[in-house]
Amino acid sequence: LNMQTAIETLPKSELHLHIEGSLEPELALELADRNGITLPYRDLDDLRKQYRFTNLQSFLDLYYELMGVLKTSDDFRDLALAYFGKVSAQGVRHAEIFFDPQVHVANGLDVNIVMDGLLEGMKDAKARYGITSGLILSIVRDMPIDTAQSVLDSVRHRTDDILGIGLDSAEVGYPPHLFARQFQEAKTLGWHCVAHAGEEGPAAYVIDALDTLHAERIDHGIHSVTDAMLLKRLASERIPLTTCPLSNRRLQVVNSLEELPLRNMMEQGVLINVNSDDPAYFGGYIADNYKALAGIGFTLSELTIMAENSINASFINAVRRDALL
Ligand code: ADE
Ligand code: ZN
Repeated sequence: LNMQTAIETLPKSELHLHIEGSLEPELALELADRNGITLPYRDLDDLRKQYRFTNLQSFLDLYYELMGVLKTSDDFRDLALAYFGKVSAQGVRHAEIFFDPQVHVANGLDVNIVMDGLLEGMKDAKARYGITSGLILSIVRDMPIDTAQSVLDSVRHRTDDILGIGLDSAEVGYPPHLFARQFQEAKTLGWHCVAHAGEEGPAAYVIDALDTLHAERIDHGIHSVTDAMLLKRLASERIPLTTCPLSNRRLQVVNSLEELPLRNMMEQGVLINVNSDDPAYFGGYIADNYKALAGIGFTLSELTIMAENSINASFINAVRRDALL
């Protein structure tokens, strides 16, 4: 069994995946065509030239623009099924996927259209591939807070269709505590709480997410490494970090994968798992992220620990979890 195959067959959960970030350029053009939308790119080659990013914002600009091609429930179902089809060959057994409803609502869609399409794709994925999944409603932190609140108000009755609440988009200048009210409400609905922090922002934002949002996982969190006390806390409170190596490199959070403090943090007892973030934008799906780590010297036993961490850090019930381990 070579390393590639071993990685592809390791049972894993994907816990940090923006479903809109799995929109491949080919599908974006196909949906634009289907929905009569004109994108400012001549063809696939021209669009492909846009995928050079210098930081988080330079990526978000393209990501939000291409989200405008998603219009119908069928579009969202097709998007989800394309993702699950890809990762079904990469050992993914369970996925907790983010979506950004505020952006779709700003584009004129009813949030129920979005959710119905995604849930249909997720149901099909369970039937076709045996992959279980859940939806995490992610607050877009650089949009007005009242748009986050109104999305929450419009879906709160669909309690069982949502697994958790998250926080994403431009980080610096939008500290987690700004969203304490929405997270408090989500918690009363029985939803899990996670938040992006310490991607471009400082370790202080990770602490803020723990203290004021009671986040159960931190998405990215790699800047936690600058605060030794915080690392001790993450380890002792068993707060997993959902890291995304190819994302960090493509968004120039680090200059090279070797700079990522993953081994360092694992040695200090932090529960690290590996994810793709926005696979259509960052050059690879989840197994490609594991392979990239293998490429810089991570051993199969280290990667196996990360895969087991991903299952243990998921919000699935204990019976399903034990079946996956
Ligand atoms: N939205 C999609 N991908 C993101 C990322 N890596 N960080 C913040 N917001 C995002
Ligand atoms: Zn992310």
